[in-house]
Amino acid sequence: MRYLMALLLMSTFTFAKPPGEVIFQNSCERCHAEGSKKPLSYLRQKYRSNPQGIMELAKVCPWGKNLSDMEIELVSRWIAEGK
Ligand code: HEC
Repeated sequence: MRYLMALLLMSTFTFAKPPGEVIFQNSCERCHAEGSKKPLSYLRQKYRSNPQGIMELAKVCPWGKNLSDMEIELVSRWIAEGK
């Protein structure tokens, strides 16, 4: 677990992007790009300061199935809190 965290932190520095953003681009953007029915800007607005709401959905929706709990938490926080 620590190793994974270190890796995520490292990738943050390497790409100068929050890990949540990287996860979003890899796992979510193909369906939630700007111009789609529920783009990131919509999710941002609806879930502002409510990462918990996203995390719960991720566990019951097919789109969250390939992600670890930590990845879900990171991407949810990134959407809801911008970090
Ligand atoms: C295969 C396509 C697909 C992928 C990949 C995907 N989503 Fe979705 N997502 C959907 C669809 C379809 C809906 C339901 C849209 C609707 O309500 O009309 C949805 C709904 C949601 C909602 C609820 C929106 C609301 O109205 O409250 C959230 C939050 C969400 N997705 C987040 C994510 C996150 C985070 C990821 C990446 C981990 C992700 N999605 C990846 C297709 C996808």
